[in-house]
Amino acid sequence: MNIHAIDPHAGDLLARIERRDATVAILGLGYVGLPLLDAVASAGFGVTGIDRDPDKIAALTQGRTYLPHLGEDLPARLNKNPRVSLTHDRAQLEHADIILICVPTPLHDDSHEPDLSAVDRAAIDIRRYAIDRHPDRPRLVVLESTVYPGATRERLLPVLAHPDAHNYIVHSPEREDPGNTQHTTRTIPKLIGPIDNISGKLAAAFYKQVVQHVVPCRTAEIAESAKLVENIYRAVNIALVNDLKGILGAMGIDIWEVLDAAATKPFGFQRFDPGPGFGGHCVPIDPFYLAARAREFDIETPFIELAGRINRQMPLAIVESARQVLLARGGRELSDASILVLGVAYKKNIADLRESPALEIIALLREHNATVRYHDPHIPRTWPGRRHETPLTSIEWSEENLREHDLVIIVTDHDWYDWRFLATHARHIIDTRNAIRRHTGAEFLHKITLA
Ligand SMILES: NC(=O)c1ccc[n+]([C@@H]2O[C@H](COP(=O)([O-])OP(=O)(O)OC[C@H]3O[C@@H](n4cnc5c(N)ncnc54)[C@H](O)[C@@H]3O)[C@@H](O)[C@H]2O)c1
Repeated sequence: MNIHAIDPHAGDLLARIERRDATVAILGLGYVGLPLLDAVASAGFGVTGIDRDPDKIAALTQGRTYLPHLGEDLPARLNKNPRVSLTHDRAQLEHADIILICVPTPLHDDSHEPDLSAVDRAAIDIRRYAIDRHPDRPRLVVLESTVYPGATRERLLPVLAHPDAHNYIVHSPEREDPGNTQHTTRTIPKLIGPIDNISGKLAAAFYKQVVQHVVPCRTAEIAESAKLVENIYRAVNIALVNDLKGILGAMGIDIWEVLDAAATKPFGFQRFDPGPGFGGHCVPIDPFYLAARAREFDIETPFIELAGRINRQMPLAIVESARQVLLARGGRELSDASILVLGVAYKKNIADLRESPALEIIALLREHNATVRYHDPHIPRTWPGRRHETPLTSIEWSEENLREHDLVIIVTDHDWYDWRFLATHARHIIDTRNAIRRHTGAEFLHKITLA
C-alpha cells in the first residue's frame, strides 16, 4: 500500500516514524508506561513522559525509582538521555506526533463496573492540548490501557474528532508481566488493533522499531477482546485449580502431587497452581470489563462471575484454615493468636500491592481480633487502600520474629526467602504456595498445612 498516495498526511507521519524523528508522548508512567518509555527512548525516539502525579515525576527526575523491578538505574538512564523529558504538565502533549495512553482502568469500588474516567480524561487532554492547538498536524494516538471491546472507537473517536484533524487511532493492549525476567516490553509480541487500515500501518511502522514482534489485528475490537480473553483464561484457570484443591483436599488427595503428575502430559494441559486468590491490576479486574459489556447485550458471563467468586473466596478459606490449625495445635482462638503473614505483594518478586489477597487475609484475621504482622522484603510499608486505611510496616526478618508468632502464613513466595531458615524457626506454617516442600523436600512436613 502506498500510504503517501492515499493519504499524504499519513505519508508524512510514516516518513517521520521511519526516520525516528517523530516525537512521542506517553500519558501515565506506571507499571506499563514507564517500561514503555524506556523502550521507546532506547529505540531512538524523542519522548516526553507525562504523569499527573508530580511525586512520580519528582522521583524520576531526582534519580529515584518507584518501580524497583525495572532496575535502579532506569531514572539515571532516562535523565542522561537528552531526547527524554519528564513532566506532569499535560500541555506538553502539544508537541507530540505519537501519543501512547497508559492510564489506569480499574473497577469502581462499590459497583464493580469499569471505571474509564482516566481514559476519558486523557482523551480530553489530547483534544485540548494537542488537537485544538495544532489541528492539521497528523497524529497517531494509541490506547494501551485495557478496555472493553468497542471502547477505543466509542470513547476516543468522538472526543478527538475535529474537522481539520488527521487522527490515526489504534488500540494496542499492553501485555506487561512485571517481575518476569524472561519477557520484557521489547520481547512481548505487540497486538495492533486499528480503527482503520492506515492507522494500523502507521502503528505497525512505529512499534516495529520499538519491539521485536508486531501482530496486526484487523480491528481495534479484536485487539481489545484478545487482551481480555488472555486474562479471562488466567482468571478461570486459577479459579478451577483453586476449586480442585478444595475438592481433592476433602478426599485427602494432594493437589500439588496431582498437578506434578498431570503436567507430565506433553500436550493439551497447561499447568496453573493454586494459591491464596488473585491480585494485580489485570486478572481480578479485566474479566469484568467483558462482563459489563456483555450486560449491554443482555448476555450472561457465568464463567467470569464464578471464577471471580471462587478466587475472591480464597482468603476466607485460608483464614478458616488458620482458625482450625490454631485450635488443633494448642486450642487457641484467632483472637488469642499472633500471626505473621509472609509476602504481601500480589505475586512474587515485585512490590505491587494492588488487589493483593494478602491484604484481604490480614483484614479478615483482624476482624477476628488476631494480632497480625507481616514481612515482605519488597514492601517495607504498605499504603492505605480499600481494605485497610492505616499503613502497616514490615517487621524484621529474624529467628526471634519467626519463633514469636503462633502461626506463619506464606502468601507470596518471593525468591528472597530462605525457606529452610523459615521452616526451622517458625512454629507452624500455612503454606498457600507449597513453597517449603518445593524448596526443602519432606523434611518439615510436620510443621506445614498446605492451604
Ligand atoms: N500492571 C500491569 O501489569 C499491567 C499489564 C498489562 C496491562 N495493564 C493495563 O495498563 C493500564 C495501566 O496500568 P498500570 O499498571 O501501568 O497503572 P499504574 O497505576 O501503575 O500507572 C498509571 C499511571 O497513570 C497516571 N495517570 C492517571 N491518569 C492520568 C492522566 N489523565 N494523565 C497522565 N497520567 C495519568 C497515574 O498517576 C499512574 O502513574 C491499565 O489499563 C492496566 O489494566 C497493566
